[in-house]
Amino acid sequence: MAKLIINEKKKLGRINADIYGHFSEHLGRCIYEGLYVGEDSEIPNVKGMRKDVVEALKEMKIPVLRWPGGCFADEYHWKDGIGPKETRKKMVNTHWGGVLEDNSFGTHEFMELCGQLGCKVYINGNVGSGTVQEMSEWVEYMTFDGVSPMADLRRKNGREKPWKVDYFGVGNENWGCGGNMTPEYYGNLYRRYQTYVRDYGQKNPVLKICCGANVDDYHWTEQVLATTHDHVQKEMHGFMDGLSLHYYVHPGGWEKKGSATQFGVEEWYRTMGKAWMMEELIKKHGDIMDTYDPEKKIGLMVDEWGCWFDVEPGTNPGFLYQQNTMRDALVAGITLNIFNKHCDRVKMANIAQLVNVLQSVILTEGRKMILTPTYYIFHMYKYHQDAQLLEGFMETEEIGTEEVKVPDITESVSMDAEGNIHITLGNVSVTEAKEIEVLFAEKKAAEARADILTGEMNAHNTFEEPELVKEEPFNGWSITDSGSIKLAIPACAVVHMEVRL
Ligand code: AHR
Repeated sequence: MAKLIINEKKKLGRINADIYGHFSEHLGRCIYEGLYVGEDSEIPNVKGMRKDVVEALKEMKIPVLRWPGGCFADEYHWKDGIGPKETRKKMVNTHWGGVLEDNSFGTHEFMELCGQLGCKVYINGNVGSGTVQEMSEWVEYMTFDGVSPMADLRRKNGREKPWKVDYFGVGNENWGCGGNMTPEYYGNLYRRYQTYVRDYGQKNPVLKICCGANVDDYHWTEQVLATTHDHVQKEMHGFMDGLSLHYYVHPGGWEKKGSATQFGVEEWYRTMGKAWMMEELIKKHGDIMDTYDPEKKIGLMVDEWGCWFDVEPGTNPGFLYQQNTMRDALVAGITLNIFNKHCDRVKMANIAQLVNVLQSVILTEGRKMILTPTYYIFHMYKYHQDAQLLEGFMETEEIGTEEVKVPDITESVSMDAEGNIHITLGNVSVTEAKEIEVLFAEKKAAEARADILTGEMNAHNTFEEPELVKEEPFNGWSITDSGSIKLAIPACAVVHMEVRL
């Protein structure tokens, strides 16, 4: 029997709730249909926002939402999305399917959505095709309380009080779709653009995020920090609060992503191997950040992550609509455990994307809505939000194929404000159940409860069978006389256990 040894005395740091964040882009059916249906829709809505989706996201405890992109962000001109809807400019969404964007969902609508969700606001600004003035005015429009051209315009558009903007991204993927820049060039633009992301006296100033690397582009991280580091060191707060990282899991590489639902054991383990790469990326980008920011004041913001497969057959290739199976659930389980364990550096993450795109937690079809296996992982892991990471040691075995070997178990452990311990464990094996004994350094388990998500590796929910995979109470555990806990976790499963000592 494998052992998980937990040192309940050793708190390693706070797990920032925003690690459990999400991303919504003007892409496919994410915003329109998925989140926003308009006030005149027959689909039940509050001010145009789908009631069913908002309720499910609140239940999942969504902490922060990023918008409007993605690649869309560096093409987005925010003034096109304010004022009377009839007069808002229309544009072509060149990145995503060449469809008409009527700008009926803009700044006011996004703020309304975040208000209904009760989540923090992460706005991504336009560096690729936007001006410094445009970015500066957007921040003024959203956050200034006094008399000024932009604050007055906001009032004219029906919003008296400023909104709270928690995070502001200075461009997106500026090494690629956000302008194809070199790191030195972008580093200098970052210095300039961020200057005008003013702090208008919000209670907590807007936190600025610098565009970081794609996957393992360590050169980008090094050069951007080298170009900005004199400021990074002098003015840590107010200059750069986060550096982003984007990493998508494609089991067969970018050219051969494969089907989201039709895959075999080889692809399963290849996908798990790719998911584990997140750990190496955080360590290596983190090492570079340590040389410029040894006190870890700048967060590594993994503001795009998740599985990216082929689109569902028959759907618009530009809409990136994909299904979501137990494989996605295990990838999410592994990744969130990695983030928890690196909470000293990872301060926010945003899985891509919230509804109807890539690794979504929700899929919709007309009035119908289904929750994906990934939804349940976020729901089961929500107890880690703002909890203290605890020291834990897990005995694992390497499993997989000749090509790829991965640890059989993923885990992380935290203690919440009431002193309850939360353990999240995933059994990555598609065939073998796993017996685990959980031991505590000094105390004994007094009471516990657990939930599980499990199913065949390809199992997923559909609009015809919406509850094939769902979180269920789990009874496959017992507390021993010595105060340890013995669990038998089925193959292909994720468990959340809450323990009172
Ligand atoms: O999430 C889809 C796209 O992936 C985003 O728009 C872009 O930032 C990334 O390349």
